This record gives sequence, structure tokens and C-alpha cells, in this order.
Amino acid sequence: MIVKIPATSANLGPGFDCLGLALQLYNSIKVEVGQPFQISLTGTYSEGISTDESNLVWRTMCHLWASIDYPTPSVALTLENHIPPARGLGSSSAAIVGGLVAANALAGSPLTKLELLQIANTLEGHPDNVTPALYGGITLSIPTEEGILPRVLGQARSLKAVVLIPDLRLKTEKARGILPPQVSRQEAVFNISHVGLLIDAFIREEYSLLKEGMRDMLHQNQRAVLIPGLLATLEAALNAGAYGAALSGSGPTLIALIPETLKISVGHAMLNIMEQHGTKAQTIVLDIDTCGAEYSISQ
Ligand code: HSE
Repeated sequence: MIVKIPATSANLGPGFDCLGLALQLYNSIKVEVGQPFQISLTGTYSEGISTDESNLVWRTMCHLWASIDYPTPSVALTLENHIPPARGLGSSSAAIVGGLVAANALAGSPLTKLELLQIANTLEGHPDNVTPALYGGITLSIPTEEGILPRVLGQARSLKAVVLIPDLRLKTEKARGILPPQVSRQEAVFNISHVGLLIDAFIREEYSLLKEGMRDMLHQNQRAVLIPGLLATLEAALNAGAYGAALSGSGPTLIALIPETLKISVGHAMLNIMEQHGTKAQTIVLDIDTCGAEYSISQ
């Protein structure tokens, strides 16, 4: 079995801990049943990933099997990683979602996608990456008394994402740790209204509204101290014609949503400003993933 899981970009500006989208950049998990336990790593990013029983994909698989009383099978895993870790592109969500989808499929799929989402949210801590990783597209995650209510707002097939990945790692805990524990009413109203506009823009596919809709007061300015060039690079993306631009998750990656025609110029403009601030980076242009995590079985 092979499970393919998309990278994700959370927040999209004002949608702190609730908005996110899936990108066509994938990790995959190959599962060979009946083999002695082994975890092999391949792909662009393997450094620092454990290959023993502490591996996050494996621990997540075991968690799911334990929760449904399914006996742990002997499997060999090959993890192919193309999502850069600790960059704000959902690599840990991809590990958790991939582990859950693989373990559930091996057990005969007793759990629904919605049930997998609840487990993923409990393990990850916030739903804005796990929802798009499971469902694809642009998603809103609503915390309710019954758990996370996921909504897919659109698939934005005509949008491209310029993703600028700085050459520095930033752990989500550190990027959350610098945020003040309380927000003012003015900041709350600003973000509530801008999330409303953003949802409207995605549902109607009126991307000219993204420039205003992706503005934020709750976390981006505050996090700029950790990412030299953050605010100037977002500004450069807008000046080069991007529909909208934001910090990707808790960073340090930045994302600009653009029409296809601007994929070279927006990337250059962003890279130029980021490097002027002394931060080396690379850009890639990606489509939105519309499917979320999927598995296939080969005989
Ligand atoms: N929304 C989180 C944050 C990151 O900005 O801290 C992804 O869950």
C-alpha cells in the first residue's frame, strides 16, 4: 500500500488555527505487510527523522490500531519525504494524517474520514493543517462540542501558490510562544471580518478580494521578529501582482496566491527582498491539491 499526503499551508493570514489549504507537494508512505519491522527513509528530507519505534508515522499507526483493538501487524515502512520539516508546510500533520490513513486502511477502513480528523486533531493539537491534509482544497476547521467540523470552501484550480521556503527552521512551539496570550477587541474584530471576506472570496472565486482578505492582526506582525524580511517580502509579493500573501502556518515559509501568468515575477520579487534581509531561501510554484491524503494498493 502507498499513502500519498499533501503539504499544507495554515492560517492564510487571518484564519489563525482554522483556515488552511493543501498543496501539490507530497510525502508518501509505502507499507509492506508481513515483513519484519523496519523503517527506511528516502526523498529530499530524511535528516533527523527517527527510524525506530519513536517514528511519528509509526507511533500514529500504533495509536490508531490500539484505539480500535486491532492487533499490530508486522510491517516494513518506506517514508518518502518531500515536504521540508519545521518550515510551516505541515510536515508533522502529513506524518500523522498519513499514519492514520495507512493504519485505518490496513485494518479494513473501520473509521470514517471525519473520525480520522478528530484523532488527527487530538494528536496534532490544532486542525488547520490536518483538515486540508485529509480533505484537500481550501478548508475551514470549526471547533464544536462534537469535535472539529470541517468545511471545504473550494478547490481554487485556477490559483497557483508561490511558496518561499527560507533556509531556516522554526518550531511551531517557538512561533506560538512569542504570541501574547490575549488579543484586543479591535484585533479580534479585524480578524473575524477579514476571515469572513476570505471565505467569501474563496467561495465566489473572486480572488481580487484576497489582498484585503489575507491581512491579519493576530500573529504575522508579532512573528516578524523571528523571520527577518517577513513583512517586506509579503509586501513585495503584493507589489508584484500577487492576489494575496501570508505567512504559511507558523512560518518561516511564506505563501503568495497568484494567477498562473505571474509565477516567475512574484517568486523573483519575493526572493530578492528576502535575500536583501539576509535570509537565503528557495521558491517553488505549486498547484492546490484537491484530493487530500489517498491510498492505493498494489498486489
Ligand atoms: N495555526 C498554527 C500557528 C500553525 O500559526 O501557530 C499550524 O497549526
